[in-house]
Amino acid sequence: MTPDLSPALILELVDLATDISREAGEEILALRSAGVTVAGSKSSAVDVVTEADRSAEEMIVAAIAAARPGDGIFAEEGNTAESTTGITWVIDPIDGTVNYVYGIPAFCVSIAATVADPQAYGDGRRAIAAAVFNPSTNEMFSAAEGFGAHLNGEPIHPSHETQLEQSLIATGFGYTRERRALQGRILSVLIPHFRDIRRIGSAAYDLCMVACGRIEAYYEIGIQPWDWAGGALVATEAGAITLGAHADQPAGTPLFIAGPPELATQLQTLLYPLTREG
Ligand code: IPD
Ligand code: CA
Repeated sequence: MTPDLSPALILELVDLATDISREAGEEILALRSAGVTVAGSKSSAVDVVTEADRSAEEMIVAAIAAARPGDGIFAEEGNTAESTTGITWVIDPIDGTVNYVYGIPAFCVSIAATVADPQAYGDGRRAIAAAVFNPSTNEMFSAAEGFGAHLNGEPIHPSHETQLEQSLIATGFGYTRERRALQGRILSVLIPHFRDIRRIGSAAYDLCMVACGRIEAYYEIGIQPWDWAGGALVATEAGAITLGAHADQPAGTPLFIAGPPELATQLQTLLYPLTREG
């Protein structure tokens, strides 16, 4: 089903995303002060999931089901539901779980309402309303398609920088040895082209920082739809663009680039030959 994307619906969805992400963010902070419990690991021994990831996801899914029964769910810790409305919520209950475990204040709740769009991103979906909430800093990044992006209610925009040599670039690393080895090789080639590199540890937060110009651009190989869905809408509504490895590949299959148009395009040119290795 294709939903009628009226302004009223889009604004209803962004209000819901901000309310639920704030509530979940406050809950994960409260759980953290009571002590972190690592509940298991996923793709490798260092890819951990905490009790807070799971309980926040349950809370978010229940809140969405109560407000909008019939919407679909696709969430990092395993909750899924088919959509009967054409809207599917893509959820990362804690993006930056390793930061959460260590008490580094760069973890976010990311909630995005998405619709099917085969050309948009690697998962064939695009967000129309989203919230990314960092509870440690009380930063609420939100975006609604056609209505811009906001940080705590104020409009945000990416950097005006056009030279990669003057740019602060964020990236991230996956959890498997093979992926990390490739990412390290690529970074060793790229780093002389940049002002410097940041590895902040939350892809959703990286994308929001592109959106508000704290960093110039971001790239990563192998992030998942729940990592990018919310932050990508915040970045693009702010005025950044997202790119994949080349013109025929949407962002996220498997390369994800975000930045102001000139910088994102320069990054794509540098990254394309390097990512063909794997
Ligand atoms: C991770 C973070 C990290 C990125 C990884 C993601 P998680 O998500 O976004 O910055 O580099 O690729 O898997 O595991 O903290 O939800
Ligand atoms: Ca994540």
